[in-house]
Amino acid sequence: MYWIALALLAIMDTAHAQMTAEANVAPDLRECYTDPELLNRNNLPPVTIQVLIDIIQRIEDNPNVNVDLRVLAVLLLHTYRQDGIEYHQPEMGLSQSSIVLPFAPTFHSFYRHKLLLTKLIPSNRQSLDNNTISSPLKCALHHMLSTTVDSRVRGDENTCGQLSQYRAMRTARSAPSAENNVKEDVELFSPTGINSHSGQMRQYDPNSDVEINGFGGSKYERQLLGASTCPILGGVINTKWGAVSAGNLIAGIAAGAQLQQTTVTELSRGLVNEVANGQQSVINLYPATLSGDLAEAVLVQGTKGSNTINIGSTGNWNSSYASRYYMLSSRNNVEMTDPEIRGGIDGFILGNRMNNILQTYGTLKLSQLLDMYYNPRNGVFDSSVRACNRREISKTILNDNELVAQSEAFAAALNANMPLQGTLLTGLNQLVSNAVANFQTYTQSNLNDLDCISSELGIDYRTITNLYIVLDTTWPYQTIYPAITYILESIEVGKYGSSVTLLSAYDGSVVINKTFSLSEFHTNYTLATHQSMLSGVNLENTYTNIKNMMQATLLDESRLNYVGGNPTVLLFLLNSGNLEINDGVREQARIINETVPDLRVIYATANNQFDNLWNLVRDMYSDIHVISLSSSGTNVENTLTPVLDNIRQVSRRIINPLCGFEYKDESSGSRMLDQYIEPGYINFYSISPNYFYDNNDDSKIRVISNTGSGTLTVCYSRVVAQPRRNATVAGTDDSLITCEDLVTNGNVEISLKDACDGYSTIGSCPLFYISVQSTAASIANPLCSNNNVCRFPFNLKFQIQTEQLGCFSSGTSIAASLIFVLFIQIFNIFRSF
Ligand SMILES: *[C@@H]1O[C@H](CO)[C@@H](O)[C@H](O)[C@H]1NC(C)=O
Ligand SMILES: *[C@@H]1O[C@H](CO)[C@@H](O)[C@H](O)[C@H]1NC(C)=O
Ligand SMILES: *[C@@H]1O[C@H](CO)[C@@H](O)[C@H](O)[C@H]1NC(C)=O
Ligand SMILES: *[C@@H]1O[C@H](CO)[C@@H](O)[C@H](O)[C@H]1NC(C)=O
Ligand SMILES: *[C@@H]1O[C@H](CO)[C@@H](O)[C@H](O)[C@H]1NC(C)=O
Ligand SMILES: *[C@@H]1O[C@H](CO)[C@@H](O)[C@H](O)[C@H]1NC(C)=O
Repeated sequence: MYWIALALLAIMDTAHAQMTAEANVAPDLRECYTDPELLNRNNLPPVTIQVLIDIIQRIEDNPNVNVDLRVLAVLLLHTYRQDGIEYHQPEMGLSQSSIVLPFAPTFHSFYRHKLLLTKLIPSNRQSLDNNTISSPLKCALHHMLSTTVDSRVRGDENTCGQLSQYRAMRTARSAPSAENNVKEDVELFSPTGINSHSGQMRQYDPNSDVEINGFGGSKYERQLLGASTCPILGGVINTKWGAVSAGNLIAGIAAGAQLQQTTVTELSRGLVNEVANGQQSVINLYPATLSGDLAEAVLVQGTKGSNTINIGSTGNWNSSYASRYYMLSSRNNVEMTDPEIRGGIDGFILGNRMNNILQTYGTLKLSQLLDMYYNPRNGVFDSSVRACNRREISKTILNDNELVAQSEAFAAALNANMPLQGTLLTGLNQLVSNAVANFQTYTQSNLNDLDCISSELGIDYRTITNLYIVLDTTWPYQTIYPAITYILESIEVGKYGSSVTLLSAYDGSVVINKTFSLSEFHTNYTLATHQSMLSGVNLENTYTNIKNMMQATLLDESRLNYVGGNPTVLLFLLNSGNLEINDGVREQARIINETVPDLRVIYATANNQFDNLWNLVRDMYSDIHVISLSSSGTNVENTLTPVLDNIRQVSRRIINPLCGFEYKDESSGSRMLDQYIEPGYINFYSISPNYFYDNNDDSKIRVISNTGSGTLTVCYSRVVAQPRRNATVAGTDDSLITCEDLVTNGNVEISLKDACDGYSTIGSCPLFYISVQSTAASIANPLCSNNNVCRFPFNLKFQIQTEQLGCFSSGTSIAASLIFVLFIQIFNIFRSF
C-alpha cells in the first residue's frame, strides 16, 4: 500500500514539475497570455528587485510552502520560469480562434531552459501549486524570470532613441555602433533570406523530445510582420546596480545549492556529438548562468557564419519608475544582453558561494539572500559579496580556461537540442574562446554600474513609516503613478519596513488598505482603480475621516500595548487648485494635532497653495511642497527629493500605549521594546511631549545593549531631529547633542526630567530626539534567527525601555473642540435653511 502511494506521488511529481519545460505554454501560465487584464503588463507590478523579493516573501510566508532556500529556488524555476515564449501571428482567419493560444516557447532561449529544467536543475518535487500567489503576482514573477525577446512592432519605436534620457546618470555606456546595426538589419531582411526560408516552417510535435529540425525557419515568418527596432527583453528586473535577468540569478542560486555534473552525452540524448572535442561534462552552475548565454551566442551567431561572437547588448526601461518594459537598443546579437550578463555573473557569484553561505546560516531565506546581495552595505556575510562589487568579484572567480571548457561542452550539448540556421562543422573551440574573451572585455569596460563606494554614499538609515497617501484623482494616472512608485521604493515599503495606505482626497475613504507589500499595492493600484475613485478634493470630509481612522488606530495600539515603531505620515498629493479651507477643516486639523501627536502632515501640490495650507501643517517651511510632474515621468526624482527628505525626517516613535487618543493621565510604568539595527546604520527615534509634558523626575528612557550587539552609540537632542555623533569634532559633543557609547550588556539612561520646563503649552515643547548607531563593520555570522522581526540575519538587537511616561494633552481643549464642532454643525444646519 505504502509503496503504491509513493509511486503515485512520484508520477504526479514528474508529470507536474516539467510543464514549463514543454514546448507549449505551461497550463498554469496560460492565463498570463489569455486574460486581457493580465496580458497588459501595465496592470502588473513593476519588475524590480524589491517587488521580486516581496513576491518571494509572500511565497515563503505561505503556510502551504514549507521548503528551504534550496528547494524554493528550484521550485520557482520549475513553476514560473518558461523562457522563449513568443507571439505568433495566427494565419488569416484564425485570428479569432478560441482553441489556439498564439504564444509558444519558440525563441532560442527556450532550449537552454529546457535542458536546465530536465537535466541540470531537475526538481524531484511537485511544482508550486497554482494558487500559491495571486494571478497578477504569478504573471509578474513569470515575466521577471523568463528570458525572451518580443520583437513585435509596437508603434512607439520612434521614441526608443530617447530612452537614453532615462538612463541612470551614472551609466555611461558606449552605444552600439549604428552602422553595424543597419548592415545586419539589411542582411536579415534581404529578400533572398525571406524567400529561401519562408515556407520552410515545419509542423513539429510538441510532445516529441526531438525537435532538432523543428522551428528554425519560423523566425523569418515572424519577422515578415515587421520587427521592432527596439524589441522588449523579457525576464529582466530593475536594480540600482543595473538591469538583471532574474532567471539567470535564481538558476545560479538553485544550481549552486545543488551542484551536479552531467555528461555532454546525456544532455545530447545520446546523439553522437561531433562538435564536442573538448571536455565531456558540465557543472550545472555554468550552463545555468554564464555558459548558458555564451553557448547560445556562439551557436546562434556562429551558424550565421560569424567568426566573432558579439557579447553584450544595451537597452533601457521606457520609464525609470514604472519599470515594466526593458527595450533593447538593437535587435541583433541579443543572445547575451547586458541584463543576462549581470544576471549570469550575480547567479554565478551566489551559486559559487552557496555551500559557504548555507554553512554560515542554514536557515537563510531566499528573499534574504537577494535582499543582502542587492543592498548598498554589508553584503552576504561578507561585505565584498554585493551587487555593486560584481565586476570586481567576476575578475577573481571566473577563470577563463574553465569558462571556455564549460561553455564549449555546454555549447556542444545545446547544439544537439536547438534548431539553428546552419550546421556548425568545426571550430567550436575558437568561437567559444572568442566569446569568452569578448565577454570579459565587455564586462570590464562596458558595464559601468554603480560601484560600492558610490553605493555607500547613500543614506545610512532606513526610512520606516506608515505612509498614508491622500490622492486627488484629477492627476492623470500616467503622471502620478511613477511618482507614487518612486516614493514607495524610496521609503522601502516592505515586510520589515514601511507600510502604505491609499486614501481618496474626495472624502478620505480607504482605497487600498494598509499594506507592507509592494506587490500587493501595485496589483491594486491600477489605472482602473484610479479611474474608479471619486474625483475632486473635499478636505473637510477627508480630515474628518482621517481623524476617526487615526484615533481608532491609537485605540487599537492601546489594546495591543504597542510601545513604538513606525510613525505616521499623511501625504497629500493634490493636483486641484484653490483648495477650500474652512473652519471645519481647521478644527479637524487641530484635533488631529492634539490627539495624534506622531502624525506628520505633508502637502505636495501641483501649484503653489502655501497661503491656504500653512496653518494645516506642523512646520509650514518644510511640510508644504510644490511638485511639477509630467506624464513622461522624467522629473520624478528631482521634484520629489524635498518631499522624501521631509518624510525621512520623521523618526520612529516611542509612545505610552495607555494614552490612546484621550490622554487620561496614566503612567506607562516600565515597558520594553525590542529593536534591531544593521551594522553601519543608525536608527532615529522621537518622543512626543504628550508623553512627558508634566514633570516626573522618574520619567526616562533606557537603551539597553544585548549580547553580541557590540558597541553602539546613543545620542539625544531636543533640537536636532536626527542627532548623531559628530566625527569631525571627536569627543566633544555638540552643545545641542549629547552622545554616549553603549557597550555590550550595558545601558544608557536618558532622563526626561523637566524636559518641557519653560514651555507653557504642550504644542510649544519640542519632541525628544534619540538615535542609536552601530559603527560595527559588516558582520560575518548570523545573530538574529527570527525571520519575522529581522530583515537580515546580521541584525543587532538592542532594547528600549520606557519608564514612567505619562499622558498629556490640552485636556480641556478636547471638550472645547467637541462643543466647537457641535456649534459648527448647528451653524451649518441653520445656514442650510
Ligand atoms: C490557476 O488559477 C487561476 C486563477 O484561479 C485559474 O484561472 C487557472 O485556470 C488556474 N490554472 C490551472 C491550470 O488550473
Ligand atoms: C512603455 O512601453 C509600453 C509598451 O509599448 C507601453 O505600454 C507603456 O505605456 C510605455 N510606458 C511609458 C511610460 O512610456
Ligand atoms: C480593507 O480591510 C477591511 C477590513 O479588513 C475590509 O473590510 C475592506 O474591504 C478592505 N478594503 C479594501 C479596499 O480592500
Ligand atoms: C487588493 O484587492 C484585492 C481584490 O480586490 C483585495 O482582496 C485586497 O484586500 C486588496 N488589498 C488591499 C491592500 O487593499
Ligand atoms: C560637525 O561639527 C562641525 C563644527 O560644529 C560642523 O561644521 C559639521 O557640519 C558637523 N558635522 C556633522 C556631520 O554634523
Ligand atoms: C500643531 O501643533 C504645532 C505645535 O504646537 C503648531 O505649531 C501647529 O500650528 C499646529 N497645527 C495645527 C493645524 O493646529
